Amino acid sequence: MKRTLGVCYYPEHWPEEIWPQDAADMVAAGLSWVRIGEFAWSRLEPSPGDLQLDWLDRAIEVLGSAGLKVILGTPTATPPRWMADKHPDMFAVDKDGRVRGFGSRRHYCFSHPGYRKESRRITEILAKRYGANPHVAAWQTDNEYGCHDTTISYSDAARTAFQNWLAQKYQSTDALNRAWSNIFWSMEYDSFDQIGLPNLTVTEPNPSHDLAFRRFSSDQVVAFNREQAEIIKRHSDAPLIHNYMGRVLEFDHFDVGADLDIASWDSYPMGFLEDRIEADDAHKRAYAQQGDPDFQAFHHDLYRAVGRGRWWIMEQQPGPVNWAPVNPAPLPGMCRLWAWEAFAHGAETVCYFRWRQAPFAQEQMHAGLLRPDRAPAPALGEAAQVASEIVDAPKVGTAKADVALIFDYASAWAWDVQPQGTGFDYFKLVFETYRGLRKLGLDIDILPPDASDLSAYKLVLAPGLLSLSDPLKAALSRFDGIALIGPRANSKTRELTIPTPLPPNLPGLAATVTHVETFRADMERPLVGGGHIRHWFEHVETDAPVQEGLETGEPVLIGKGRVRYLAGWLDEVALARVLAELCAEAGIQTLKLEGDLRIRRTETHLFVFNYGREAASFEGKTVQPAGVYWDAL
Ligand code: GAL
Repeated sequence: MKRTLGVCYYPEHWPEEIWPQDAADMVAAGLSWVRIGEFAWSRLEPSPGDLQLDWLDRAIEVLGSAGLKVILGTPTATPPRWMADKHPDMFAVDKDGRVRGFGSRRHYCFSHPGYRKESRRITEILAKRYGANPHVAAWQTDNEYGCHDTTISYSDAARTAFQNWLAQKYQSTDALNRAWSNIFWSMEYDSFDQIGLPNLTVTEPNPSHDLAFRRFSSDQVVAFNREQAEIIKRHSDAPLIHNYMGRVLEFDHFDVGADLDIASWDSYPMGFLEDRIEADDAHKRAYAQQGDPDFQAFHHDLYRAVGRGRWWIMEQQPGPVNWAPVNPAPLPGMCRLWAWEAFAHGAETVCYFRWRQAPFAQEQMHAGLLRPDRAPAPALGEAAQVASEIVDAPKVGTAKADVALIFDYASAWAWDVQPQGTGFDYFKLVFETYRGLRKLGLDIDILPPDASDLSAYKLVLAPGLLSLSDPLKAALSRFDGIALIGPRANSKTRELTIPTPLPPNLPGLAATVTHVETFRADMERPLVGGGHIRHWFEHVETDAPVQEGLETGEPVLIGKGRVRYLAGWLDEVALARVLAELCAEAGIQTLKLEGDLRIRRTETHLFVFNYGREAASFEGKTVQPAGVYWDAL
């Protein structure tokens, strides 16, 4: 598959006279794709029903005839000001009951029926007009669902929609009362319209209620996206894409992705390091100009799964951003490295954000490929270098990994609702596991929680998985590799209650979690083999062999067969040892990588990336800081 590059462009921000030169310069830099339109609603429809699409016709024509393929975005992330007069109650409401009003973006509630109709209407207008346009080669629905914490809304519209969703799901309030055990604290309901949203309660709401609301909120995003997808599909054969984000978990991306053709995500490695990763100052200092060495790869693998193999970077950081606590410039070479890392993980296309830095408004301090005065910014040269390299680069296909890691959005919601102690964060648990695997030089596939075929893998891990789905249980019973389940896995029903038999209740493993403890951040329990348990520990009764235990004698890693259980949150030292031992048993070769090197194999090649500030060597070859090289396997 031929790899391509692209860029995000806002023709409505610039005088029309410069569009042709911009287009020619994009082509000269080796870019093939240009994404436009996703925030342009106020220019497409300046007042209700007054459609002004001629400028967009011309923009598409200018870009397309220069040789670029257009990704056209639906503009629903930025409803214009008149929309607020038309639908004064369309805004999302935060947990404290405050309206999230006009003046930036994403100011809509997914449940508002009037806004949903507007979203369908503008989508239909664009899809009809451009569905057969030969230059429009892909579509983007909306922009970054969930960005700025916008998935969950406590509006009146959300309450009504939630009540309808519950009525459909439970059919009767008796069934709902039973499922949630509302006898507790006399919370029983006798009609669906009595059921409120789980905010503004005196103390915590029933976790079953809260989790149901999280499932509902995710379903609202899925429904919103599906409406746009169905409309566009009626008018266009071009692939449908949405641009997801890093560490946004409030909606189930697998569910949204099922209605789209390609997954994409917006990768801002340095912004994320500062803004979205728990790490000590030494880590943040070490990677301040490179980004965390595993965070991008994790999302590449996650979105490869969400896109059922097809995925892109829709926005790639080009230089300092404006939104993290501090915003340094990337080390020279990183804008090239990030693109190659994405390709090595199977990305079809990498689009940089944005073409030219805007001299105005909220993002005026955010770099582009060009400066505001149209001169090249540093990333342009690196993009052009990647563009020339992909011409001769190997046609890399995505290799199947030996190791699979299960990722489940509902588990993130459940543990968010009921962390049982600060420090238990689902993403953090899964990401630490991923990092541990990657440091051993492994390639990893991420799988959804209903994965039904594990036969390609030698090692499968399911940290923190709320409950095992039926397909996964069936797949595990047929699996002949090693499955490491836990901690906190299969420990709740889908309604967030404790099941009996008690957890972990895994096939072929006699073990019972009798009780659970969580610890302060400064308290840890040492393991016999070295390292510690942090945050979370389960006391387990078992007759099964124990592979790792606490110094106090309690079991930690239980079982020697196909299915094993991990009864606590391992620190880095213990995790590295356990993973290396399991890989050795499963017949997977691991590596000791020097410095901050990371690797990724494709079907035919091995790619090496240096996230460090020092040169490091791999199999006798020196890799410079921010350097990347590849070799045939
Ligand atoms: C993304 C967003 C873009 C732009 C960018 C800045 O989250 O999709 O529109 O705001 O961040 O880094």
